[in-house]
Amino acid sequence: MRQKIVAGNWKMNNDLNQGLELAEAIINLQHEIPEDVHVIMAPPFIHLADIHRKVKDTRLKISAQNCAEEEKGAFTGEVSASMVRSTGSEYVIIGHSERRAYYNETDDVILKKINLALKNDLYPIVCCGEKLEQRENGQYFNVVREQLENTIFKLSSEEFSKVILAYEPVWAIGTGKTATPEEAQEMHQFIRKLVKDNFSDNAAEDTSILYGGSCKPSNSTELFKQDDIDGGLIGGASLKSKDFVELTKTFS
Ligand code: 13P
Repeated sequence: MRQKIVAGNWKMNNDLNQGLELAEAIINLQHEIPEDVHVIMAPPFIHLADIHRKVKDTRLKISAQNCAEEEKGAFTGEVSASMVRSTGSEYVIIGHSERRAYYNETDDVILKKINLALKNDLYPIVCCGEKLEQRENGQYFNVVREQLENTIFKLSSEEFSKVILAYEPVWAIGTGKTATPEEAQEMHQFIRKLVKDNFSDNAAEDTSILYGGSCKPSNSTELFKQDDIDGGLIGGASLKSKDFVELTKTFS
């Protein structure tokens, strides 16, 4: 079902102790989180098991930020979807633009990861979004359509029902430059229409589509108010417990 979601992507921030402290601070504020808002924290891999022990009796869920494209074996330094699941994580972010840009992740790799996540009972949070020049030259709808056609639109309807989408315009990530609510809504509406055309009316209605890119309490009310924006995938503001919890209160 379509859910209101605030997910915090910690990226490569916080050592283990700092991560545990941040999780603790968020747990201490959890009574402020509205009941219908689902809250997910995505710390680095090495924090997952410890943070899961802290959150397991709370409403907070955890996610990995990535998983390997292979199932298991001689892939030094990689962490598989089944390993992620074994920590107690229920979600995994896949296809973040930083993975695409710095680690050459292609749509093919992203699709392999999505399939492994699903096979291991993880909900994939699948990211899409255009770069600045693609926004400026008017290619943004085509870019996002292609990213989705090469990945999630290759899934069955049943598989797709486990997917959460995140639209993150690359030019808005970590730049302090947010998409306007109108720009974000326009793209979310476009994505939902593609889901409808590829799957069904029900799939389109049930899919949660999150916005990501310099989203913070001062701009989230306007963003989350939009018909097709179901919450946020938050970077910088997820590292401050008060801001992160504040975001959960900005749905209308
Ligand atoms: P910022 O909120 O720091 O712009 O990051 C967004 C993001 O990339 C979340 O995945």
